Amino acid sequence: MTLPASQVEHQADSERKAGVIGNCPDPAGLLRHEPKLRLDLLERMHDTSVLSAAQFGRDVLCELMKLAAYLQLKRFPVMHALEDKIMAAAFFEPSTRTRLSFESAMLHLGGRTISVADAKTTGVAKGESLRDIGQMFNSYADVVAVRHTEQSAIDELCEYLRIPLLNGGNGSDEHPTQALADWYALLKWRPEIAYGEIPEQFRLNIGIIGTPGNMRTVKSFLMLALLFPENISHITIFSEMADPLGEEIRELTNASPIGIDFSQNLKQSLEYLDVIYMNAIAYLGDGYRFFGDAFSLDKDSKLKPDTVILHPLARGEELDTSLDNTQHNLYFNQADGAVWIRQALLLAIFGRVGDIVPAEYLA
Ligand code: CP
Repeated sequence: MTLPASQVEHQADSERKAGVIGNCPDPAGLLRHEPKLRLDLLERMHDTSVLSAAQFGRDVLCELMKLAAYLQLKRFPVMHALEDKIMAAAFFEPSTRTRLSFESAMLHLGGRTISVADAKTTGVAKGESLRDIGQMFNSYADVVAVRHTEQSAIDELCEYLRIPLLNGGNGSDEHPTQALADWYALLKWRPEIAYGEIPEQFRLNIGIIGTPGNMRTVKSFLMLALLFPENISHITIFSEMADPLGEEIRELTNASPIGIDFSQNLKQSLEYLDVIYMNAIAYLGDGYRFFGDAFSLDKDSKLKPDTVILHPLARGEELDTSLDNTQHNLYFNQADGAVWIRQALLLAIFGRVGDIVPAEYLA
């Protein structure tokens, strides 16, 4: 099954409309290798909470990416897919992208949303427990996307929760659906990371600026990177901390064949990095801290011509706006794609993929 060129044009049109600048890889690339969707794999997500990037195997992850690509190409009619469903977006910590892209995804699918954008507007301000708030979500919604400053918040909410929970960032722990958006952008850019064997000399060198041990986006991104050992040659962590990994991540990286090393010299490493994932802000319980701002990039940085930069945003001085209009900028596409991958996730969690995907697209 091949995709007609008109779809590619459609996609380019929709991204122009969305005002996405920088590198905009064609989602159709993700569909060339194995175009048919594996419903049996997507059904594994039915009624499932998304708490950690570690819960994704490569097979389910790749099916979600393919489904997102079809949605981005507007291949299937979805406007009524979730019209009987309500999503609560409960954000007890500020967010631009995660809350709005979850809400946008739900609205694209015909669903409805109720929202907490500020903890001070909930019973938390009066001392209400998260356990009791979780009980309320059962009555008011069919799924809940949550962000909280505390790592423990997810466990507390889950104590009474009977609907799926989507972790939109819990303290310094994890941000698994951000990692899905990160890898959706990367796999559109280089589908062969998931679907081919890249010759040894061309395997990817990934640089991560930040500390996986206490930055949730960096941690979840790295966890998914470990799913592609045959096509990632090396991951270099750029951090000023003595132990940027922490025990949990060290155990995972020790068990992986991907070489992991550490550096404080970003400039010297730029000549071999194919992908740079950067972030500087972390919320650590009592406030925001800046970890990666010692390492910055701008249009004069000596990047390889085809190096791409990912950043979950919001950015600080570490990522200069002079890179925005270059092909190194995959970070706006990464944010744009979050709407499509979150649609794919919601459809899978509600068990509705089979309702919207015509039989000819199913394996
Ligand atoms: N990427 C991300 O988590 O952004 P927000 O903080 O704006 O949700």
